[in-house]
Amino acid sequence: MRQGLFITLEGVDGVGKTTQALILKEYFEQLGYEVLHTFEPGGTKLGNSIRQILLNPQHEELHSMTEILLYASDRAQHVYEVILPALNAKKIVICDRYVDSSIAYQGYGLGLEIRAIEAVNQWATGGLIPDRTIYLDADPALSLQKTEGDRIEQRTLEYYARVRKGFLTIAQREPERFKVISADGTREAVADRIIKALGGIYL
Ligand code: TYD
Repeated sequence: MRQGLFITLEGVDGVGKTTQALILKEYFEQLGYEVLHTFEPGGTKLGNSIRQILLNPQHEELHSMTEILLYASDRAQHVYEVILPALNAKKIVICDRYVDSSIAYQGYGLGLEIRAIEAVNQWATGGLIPDRTIYLDADPALSLQKTEGDRIEQRTLEYYARVRKGFLTIAQREPERFKVISADGTREAVADRIIKALGGIYL
C-alpha cells in the first residue's frame, strides 16, 4: 500500500510549472518531508529517448495515434520506474505534467477521442491518479512567448486555446482534485496560491 502523496502540475507551455514545482519542493522539504520532483515526458532514461522523438520538429510524419501512445509509453515507464517506488517510500512526488496533459493536448487540442485516451492511460498507469493537481492558468498567447518552439509548441494559438479549454473542462468535472490557479503575478504570489489550494492535504 502506498502512503506517499502524488501532486501534479499542469498548464500550457511557458506558464512556469517547473519554477513552481521547485518552490513547492523546497517548501515541503523545509517542513521535513522527503520530496521527489520529476516530469513528463522524459522523467526516465528511456523516457528521455521518447521525449526526443516527440518534440523533434523534424518528425512531421508523426501520427497523432503514435503521439498518444508515445506519451503513454513514457508515462508507463515513469510510473513504474520512478513514481510508484517513491510513493511506496512515503515520499511526496511532484510531477510536471501527467495524464491531464494527454487529455488536454491530444484529446481537446487534437480533437481525438477523450474516452480512448483515458482508457489507454488508465491501463498504462495501473490507474494511478494524482492526489491533487495544480493547473496554472494563463493566456497561451502570452505564455508561449517564453518557449523555444519544439514540435508541439509550433502548433497554432487556436490549438492552444482548445488545450486551455480542455484543462478548464477537467477542472469543472473534478473540482476536488484539479485546482485552477491563476499564473498571473510574481512567482511568490503564485506559490502562495498553490500552497493554499493544496489545503494542507500533506499534513
Ligand atoms: P514539457 O516538458 O512540459 O515542455 P517544456 O520542457 O518544453 O516546457 O512538455 C513537452 C511538451 O509535451 C509540451 O508541449 C506539452 C506536451 N505534452 C503533451 O502534448 N501530452 C502529454 O501527455 C504530455 C505529458 C506533454
